Amino acid sequence: MIEIKNVTKKVGNKVILDDITLSVEKGTLVVLIGSSGCGKTTTLKLINKLIKPTSGEIYIDNRPISKENTIELRRKIGYVIQNTGLFPHLTIKENIELIPRLKKEKSVEEIEKTTVELLEMVGLKYEDYIDKYPSELSGGQQQRIGVARAIATGAEIILMDEPFSALDPMTRTSLQDQLFTLQDELKKTIIFVTHDMDEALKIADKICIMDNGKIAQYDTPENILRNPASEFIQNFIGLDRVWNNPEYIKAKDIMIKDPVSAKPSRTIIQGIEIMKTSKVDSLLVTDKENKLQGIVTVKDMKSNINKSTSIEKVMSKELLFVNEDDNLVDILGVMNEHSVGYVPVVSNNRKLEGLITRSSLISVLSEQFLEMEVSVLG
Ligand SMILES: Nc1ncnc2c1ncn2[C@@H]1O[C@H](COP(=O)(O)OP(=O)(O)O)[C@@H](O)[C@H]1O
Ligand SMILES: [Mg+2]
Repeated sequence: MIEIKNVTKKVGNKVILDDITLSVEKGTLVVLIGSSGCGKTTTLKLINKLIKPTSGEIYIDNRPISKENTIELRRKIGYVIQNTGLFPHLTIKENIELIPRLKKEKSVEEIEKTTVELLEMVGLKYEDYIDKYPSELSGGQQQRIGVARAIATGAEIILMDEPFSALDPMTRTSLQDQLFTLQDELKKTIIFVTHDMDEALKIADKICIMDNGKIAQYDTPENILRNPASEFIQNFIGLDRVWNNPEYIKAKDIMIKDPVSAKPSRTIIQGIEIMKTSKVDSLLVTDKENKLQGIVTVKDMKSNINKSTSIEKVMSKELLFVNEDDNLVDILGVMNEHSVGYVPVVSNNRKLEGLITRSSLISVLSEQFLEMEVSVLG
């Protein structure tokens, strides 16, 4: 685990980092994001002891790094930068094996075996690349080697400073996917710097948004999208982003709260009255704990001759519902698959929380788009 505690960095009078506190759990990938000059690279350099904080301390596995031997510390940390930092006069094999050979923890055979595996993991064929020099590889291939090399060191911690920024979009996407797959398997502790929110959303367990030397918000991608902490964050992520990520929109965000419902013991006459006064054509039936029991439509009621019958007898017990945490994609899927115009929303225990109807969906969505348009115009 990496803990940055109350770290301030000044150069002369200029405050570059202003009392930063941040902890990165072991085995997670945290993305540092923010506009140019906000202090991202400085943060990485502090962790790697390339520079010293003006005040505050950084701990790795509870040990203050100021007391650690710098060379030892750097061997525990892999560093990947934009132009890979591969040594131009060494072959790919020599580049990858440099640190492991220096460390002497493994035999040469073991190291070579790892090199083959690593190249395969980053999607490169060993024989094709191993004796080449960095200049003979494309930017994307060099970046893959950079990632392989950082992992080859056996480092538990990997710092990545805009490693994919200079690559074309296709290569970039492919490397993001590769990194995600690698991380899924290896569970390193990674701090990844970028200024691209789409990249952050794709790979991060948590995102730390920085602004002018301060942390503006540190949370999971989902929480940041759903509850931006400030107007700055909102502008940073962009209003349209939430709506471009419908998987982040939950039933509870868009449902009508307090839908019209009735107890099962109500008679048909009473049920019809309730519907009339609330201008609906169906009733959700809930028990005294507000658990959803069924649904009854005007048609169900009218077709029953005995109007003193309880609605429990005529309601349909087989009904569709969604959970309040289901997302918009799921909900639209359910509504389309069963071609229904509405769907009740329940919490765990099947307690009725709300109702989503086609028209409530349309009005919620169009309000959002209206807001977006206004913000674009204004
Ligand atoms: N050694 C230095 N001396 C003076 N200013 C610096 C130094 N290093 C960084 N800065 C300034 O600190 C700010 C943050 O830099 P940096 O961490 O590189 O930002 P980022 O990586 O987020 O773009 C910038 O305004 C930069 O100009
Ligand atoms: Mg930088």
